Amino acid sequence: MGSPQRPPLAHVFKGTFVHSSASAPMEILHGHLLGVDDNGTIVFVEQADQLEELAKTWGFKTSDIRQLSKHEFFMPGLVDTHIHAPQYSFTGTRVDLPLLQWLTSYTFPTEAKYQDSGFAEEVYTRVVRRTLKNGTTTACYFATIHTDSSLLLAEITDKFGQRAFVGKVCMDMNDSVPQYREITADCVQETERFVKELLEKKYPRVQPIITPRFGPSCTEDLLNALGNLAETHDLHVQSHISENEEEVKLVENMFPAYQNYTELYDKNKLLTSKTVMAHACHLSEEELKLFSLRGAAISHCPNSNFSLRSGVLNVRKVLEHNVKLGLGTDVAGGYSASMLDAIRKTMMASNSLQINKVNETGLTLEEAFQLATLGGSQALGLDDVIGNFEVGKEFDALLINTKASDSPFDLFSADDFEDTLQKFLYLGDDRNISEVYVAGKQVVPFSSSV
Ligand code: GUN
Ligand code: FE
Repeated sequence: MGSPQRPPLAHVFKGTFVHSSASAPMEILHGHLLGVDDNGTIVFVEQADQLEELAKTWGFKTSDIRQLSKHEFFMPGLVDTHIHAPQYSFTGTRVDLPLLQWLTSYTFPTEAKYQDSGFAEEVYTRVVRRTLKNGTTTACYFATIHTDSSLLLAEITDKFGQRAFVGKVCMDMNDSVPQYREITADCVQETERFVKELLEKKYPRVQPIITPRFGPSCTEDLLNALGNLAETHDLHVQSHISENEEEVKLVENMFPAYQNYTELYDKNKLLTSKTVMAHACHLSEEELKLFSLRGAAISHCPNSNFSLRSGVLNVRKVLEHNVKLGLGTDVAGGYSASMLDAIRKTMMASNSLQINKVNETGLTLEEAFQLATLGGSQALGLDDVIGNFEVGKEFDALLINTKASDSPFDLFSADDFEDTLQKFLYLGDDRNISEVYVAGKQVVPFSSSV
């Protein structure tokens, strides 16, 4: 049993752990011990009465244990399955137009500025810091069409220790802002360079993702070439689908040979088990079935869907179709970079469907928590690595302090642990997120070297 050669554990924590499993949207483990090895892997999660046995097996002393206070608990890191890093510069502004007008008036002119690597460095540093501080341990980023600044985003994410997918955006159609589009062949070539150079960096937790912007920004030739690239190199894919009705109609007019929007991606090999599509508010039953068949995932971005008045995704229906689903902020269509906000807006979207009698059963707060953690990991194909505190997964975690100084909510003597947890999920913010870990490494508070 005991192995004297075993390297010492990186962490042993004792206290309360809150996470999800496939069968339980929320599991609360009080009085548990959790051990993390040198590689950042969780090696045990056991009741505290197993202490003696565990200490012998893993070679740690009682004095090595970090005991959490009764106001603290650990939860899995939040997974943002859809965020536009360059749009962070205008987050919290300009959500006054519907999608297509919002893109041409604000988004494309802003993204065009990322040719300037100085500007890119400033905003990308800010967005990685802000999201990490707010508990986003994994982010699935869109960058811009610029290869070098997209590589810079990957470098910054790696430097701060955030787990990420980074996509160089691909678009060869843009009549309204013609300076922000690429020549088809150049786009494909630059995407190949982006993937190659990013893989050569060998960042342990930052991967490239093929990123056609959405149907209306791409020619069929481009979609086809990107699908081939994804297939050849077995890469992840992200895009947008059926976010707003005007967009759906535009796609129908642009690509009349395809039955629907989903088929446009599917026939071009962009709808795979490694695909995550944002929004999907207006998919038909038939399209949902194709998502399920292919094992493709949906990123639910409720803040954006409300802010740009795009639609309300019926999450319950998506889950009933066995389609993987995670939550996304969709900065800056969504005005908040916080995944706690995404949990709250998920509840409001679900409530609105109940008010309108679309659904009989709405989502519970526990389910929204599950979607923000384990659901996100499934949507990004990372659920064998992260998403909850199962032994063998990497320790991506948030240490929550419900009595942090300056905490945005108050606790009273009648509050039990479940009340406290709900108050944190509905009212808490980064002041309550005292430490953030990615693969066992503490990344918040920020180290002085970043
Ligand atoms: N569809 C195509 N591009 C975008 C974008 O940047 N944001 C959102 N919300 N939808 C899009
Ligand atoms: Fe988006």
